[in-house]
Amino acid sequence: MKHTDIKVLFSNPTSYVDTTVVVCGWVRTARDSKTVSFVELNDGTCLKNLQLIIDKEKVDVDAIKGAMVVGASLCVEGKFIVSEKNGYEMQTQSITVLGECPQDYPLQKKRHTLEFLRTIPHLRVRARYFEAVFAVRHQLSLAIHEYFHKNNYKYVHAPIITGSDCEGSGEMFRVTTQPWNAKYDKEGEYFAEDFFGKKAGLTVSAQLEGEMAAMGLGKIYTFGPTFRAEHSNTTRHLSEFWHVEPEVCFAEIDDIIEIAEDFIKSIIQNVLQNCPEEMEFFNQWVEKGLIEKLNHVLKSDFVKLDYTDAVEILKQSGKEFKYTVEWGCDLQTEHEKYLTEEHFKKPVFIVNYPADIKAFYMKQNADGKTVAATDLLVPGIGEIIGCSEREWDYEKLKNAMLKRGMPLESYQEYLDTRKFGSVPHSGFGLGFDRMLMYVTGVQNIRDTLLFPRTVGNL
Ligand code: 4AD
Repeated sequence: MKHTDIKVLFSNPTSYVDTTVVVCGWVRTARDSKTVSFVELNDGTCLKNLQLIIDKEKVDVDAIKGAMVVGASLCVEGKFIVSEKNGYEMQTQSITVLGECPQDYPLQKKRHTLEFLRTIPHLRVRARYFEAVFAVRHQLSLAIHEYFHKNNYKYVHAPIITGSDCEGSGEMFRVTTQPWNAKYDKEGEYFAEDFFGKKAGLTVSAQLEGEMAAMGLGKIYTFGPTFRAEHSNTTRHLSEFWHVEPEVCFAEIDDIIEIAEDFIKSIIQNVLQNCPEEMEFFNQWVEKGLIEKLNHVLKSDFVKLDYTDAVEILKQSGKEFKYTVEWGCDLQTEHEKYLTEEHFKKPVFIVNYPADIKAFYMKQNADGKTVAATDLLVPGIGEIIGCSEREWDYEKLKNAMLKRGMPLESYQEYLDTRKFGSVPHSGFGLGFDRMLMYVTGVQNIRDTLLFPRTVGNL
């Protein structure tokens, strides 16, 4: 069906003014008067609607009737003209109704609550709010690829089905084709007969594969779905989220922190530049002052704060936290909020966490207590990046694994990278959906993607 995208018409209007064009889309609003009807048509290519002016004497009456229904899909031919009120509009010559839309279409009203829209994920993409979310989601993905491409990283695709739990926290979804059968005495026998001949699951992080790729390609990143069977029913947790994971050889902790800050600023800048209309929408309707906030982030240096100092600041804060803060504890949302929203009012890297609360692969610091790991916390969301220098000494890594009771035989290939030409290297994981929340002001992670998967919700 030959037609022109509404975005193309609005991006280069002078080449189309006073010419006849065909557009296709869905009716957003329809208004009638005695001689003229008005329809706002949206085709999803941009936030703007194209107003159709329908002279009742010139267009087929039945077609007009079908076109005056919110949600109906149309193919319209007409003249693209300058309009004093709307900038540009279309003088309609003919209308074909592609798909009628009966009265039970749930998006009749102009505004619906996000809670209601969450109940119709298959239709909510037609709401302006989600059109804006998906435009920025797209641009943010592009910005990520552009950043890494420009800086000589290779995009590698890591497997989604895996046999190892990278974070070691046992939050993997199992992958199986085999129903449990009472004939098995032991778990091992059951897994041996399963599809892969061993226990398999969905990846919680592509890091381990990413590290192996980097140990030859130098700088890599992965960008794909990651799965966590956590029972965290919060506005920041998904069971399936999108994960950006660069891995950089010859980089120590300070180098990767510098890269992470530059990366975050670069992708924010890219979205501000390329999605002005959507960002204006979010600024007006979702988070007042959003654009100013992001511009402030671009100009300021992120804070780099030692975990030990963070604990001191929290203790001295005079605040009554639900969870008491002591050296060695994992920081809770309320602590992260205090540090980023009240104390520093900007993004904070917390560095050098206690080894006991972090994963086995992190570089052990000389103090014997902490690891060269950092989380990037941002106001309003909390942690968006988990990052570390990796332990690149074979013996130290092996001991950290043994201490955690990990089966070394399952990690032999990973250990090999420390045996054959090991190098200092570092990497991080950015929660893409959380980053999208930060850039758009969207408050619930369930509103950042098409079909959110959360505990009890498939
Ligand atoms: O801190 P995490 O668990 O780090 C890792 O997985 C490392 N292996 C990454 C690496 O170094 N390559 O997760 C990284 C980020 C978090 O900071 C958070 O933004 C996001 O992933 N994340 C989630 N996002 C949505 N829903 C969840 N359940 C998430 N769990 C982690």
